[in-house]
Amino acid sequence: MPASRRGSGSFTLTTGQTIAIHTRTQDEEDLPHATKKTMADHLRKYESLFTLTPQRMRMIVEAFTETLELGLNKPNQIVPMIPTYVFGWPTGQEKGDFLALDLGGTNLRVCLVTLQGEGKFEISQTKYRLSEEQKQDDGQKLFDFCAECLHTFVETNTGEGAGQLKPGQSLPLGFTFSYPCSQERIDHGELIRWTKGFGAGNTEGRDVAEMFKKSLEKYQLPIKLTALINDTTGTLIASHYVNPKTKIAVIFGTGCNAAYMERVKDIAKIEHLGIDHGAEMAINCEWGAFDSFEHEHLPRTKYDTIVDDTSNKPGEQAFEKLISGRYLGEILRLVLCELIDEGVLFLGQNTYKLEKPYCFDTAFLSLMESDPTDELLMVIGIFTHFFALETTLAERQFFRALAKLIGRRAARLSSCGIAAIVNKMGYLEEGCSVGADGSLYNKYPGFADRVHEGLQDIFGDKGRNIVTHHAEDGSGVGSAIIAAMTKHRKDAGLYLNV
Ligand code: GLC
Repeated sequence: MPASRRGSGSFTLTTGQTIAIHTRTQDEEDLPHATKKTMADHLRKYESLFTLTPQRMRMIVEAFTETLELGLNKPNQIVPMIPTYVFGWPTGQEKGDFLALDLGGTNLRVCLVTLQGEGKFEISQTKYRLSEEQKQDDGQKLFDFCAECLHTFVETNTGEGAGQLKPGQSLPLGFTFSYPCSQERIDHGELIRWTKGFGAGNTEGRDVAEMFKKSLEKYQLPIKLTALINDTTGTLIASHYVNPKTKIAVIFGTGCNAAYMERVKDIAKIEHLGIDHGAEMAINCEWGAFDSFEHEHLPRTKYDTIVDDTSNKPGEQAFEKLISGRYLGEILRLVLCELIDEGVLFLGQNTYKLEKPYCFDTAFLSLMESDPTDELLMVIGIFTHFFALETTLAERQFFRALAKLIGRRAARLSSCGIAAIVNKMGYLEEGCSVGADGSLYNKYPGFADRVHEGLQDIFGDKGRNIVTHHAEDGSGVGSAIIAAMTKHRKDAGLYLNV
């Protein structure tokens, strides 16, 4: 058998002809690099960088809890703790047809939701892909596109042909706009800042509800913007609609954020509005901003610093950048690039495909972690198919272990956020259910278990009282329920005040 070798190369014959060689690794024991031992050594370094001890977690929870309090007490804080004007829980009896428009991180979705009462509903929906250009282009154009998609959807789904909408009738719409907006009422929202890589111009600091209404007018749509909501608030309400034990909602997707129901008397910064102290209001925490700018509390590695520095919003969303799906793949890619530069990985191979920022999707981390084969065939597939790179088993085991470290850190940091809300509200003894949604929560193997494990590391055995569950679709169904609740309040003359 010929001596085994790996990698690819080429040589030129005297005739001028170039011969390319590309051979597979047969026997990894003989390799001058990437042996099990050296990869294991490298792994130890990353283990210490990415591991969070229970003690460190408790320190983070303490700082986090103080930050939440601060945001409730004073306006314009880094974690803004936004009052949403969603008052209290749904009764479960909300009924009727509602439209929901969901502008999240990746797609645009339009839904027609029929609430049937008793926690039941039906939904039909269409997704539209958003291009990178649209995310960066002019904001009004983005809302025009939203209105155009709504137009197409309404024509197909609610036209007279479809038998839903009578002439002259208009449908109430819940607009799930999942970016931090400070609200003065439920159908208003001034965009504080774009997050998740969005950067559409002429939008920050403006009332996006107003901008969107303008676009609706352009298309003369039979639609009334009833409520502007955040996906976390929608998730909170939708989860409670079907599971009344829900007290907190968290999104683990392209971004990461949480909402919960707060006592109005404890939201000092809106004291002047004179809202009934007995009432409750959902708070959109925008916790992704925790530790932004100052970077005092979170354990950032140099890879996190690079992610931050090279983002369109350096300094911002410090917590989110360690957790959300938008960034985890990039963190792992940066570690790989470091090892390429150090001459540890992929020797003799062309790594240009892997050197492109954000080319390593967070879904690859999920896939690597869930690879059931001894040979790690899924990992082979990812590297050969997407990056034209050959890997040794030792390298693949290292990649998988690295994914685990990064995924686990994200989950444990998430536990810290949840624990801070639990502390703030005193939910530990009685326990509570946390509705969770987003690609990371739904698709990343073991993510939920790691969050639960983190809660126990923070709270000890009592941590078991806090349980996450897969939430109902907050941006669609939740949005519709909130539109229904708002319509009910308006009909009862309760708009703005309690
Ligand atoms: C980002 C947004 C926030 C949203 C979250 C999840 O953190 O700022 O509004 O809830 O992503 O989509």
